[in-house]
Amino acid sequence: MQKLPVIALDGPSGVGKSTTAKAVAKALGWQYLDTGAMYRATALALRRAGASLEDREAVERVLGALRISQRGTREFLGDEDVSDAIRTPDVSRMVTPVSADARVREVLVEQQRALAREGGWVVDGRDIGTVVFPDACCKVFLTASVEVRARRRTLELEAKGTPQPFAEVASDIERRDHADSTRAVAPLRRAEDAVELDSGDLDLDQVVAWIVDLHRGRGHGG
Ligand code: DC
Repeated sequence: MQKLPVIALDGPSGVGKSTTAKAVAKALGWQYLDTGAMYRATALALRRAGASLEDREAVERVLGALRISQRGTREFLGDEDVSDAIRTPDVSRMVTPVSADARVREVLVEQQRALAREGGWVVDGRDIGTVVFPDACCKVFLTASVEVRARRRTLELEAKGTPQPFAEVASDIERRDHADSTRAVAPLRRAEDAVELDSGDLDLDQVVAWIVDLHRGRGHGG
């Protein structure tokens, strides 16, 4: 199989994929696609339309009219910048069932493939190496323990002025891990040919350097 110049970066919630993917793209002069943001924007569009997942016609209508785009690092729904609106706790809750829906995945995966087909993209998500771009030239599965991820997230929330107790953050992460990895369609799992990196003891610069090295064929067994 001809390999596609795409870096597939998969892994669980809260492991720092977006920040890492952005920095890797910058280091390589590539573009960056945040597929989680696409699922979030879809959840927001469904909610605004009052479309429940049980209402087949309403879901089809929303999906048929869906116009999601990424301009720089901002996310757009039609012409509206929804970067902040898609990251509210409300949308974070709703996106789990939305992202488990086969109709939603079919539409978004097609858009992701159309966007990055030419290559030169760093794409982050849950199923990039397994489903969206099984022919990606470089696949990384980024992990960190629940405790490490919850600790980082608790600090982030504190810095943002919206503190949440560590135990709550940790159980939320566990709930999402479970939902993402047990769903029937495109569950979160490491592609056989992906290289796993535990970021627990590494800072962002180290993770980015590791992935850039892997991509350039300088070690790590990839
Ligand atoms: O990475 P994130 O938290 O922004 O992702 C939002 C949701 O979308 C999360 O529930 C996982 C899901 N997702 C997915 O199912 N497949 C992807 N490729 C990316 C995200």
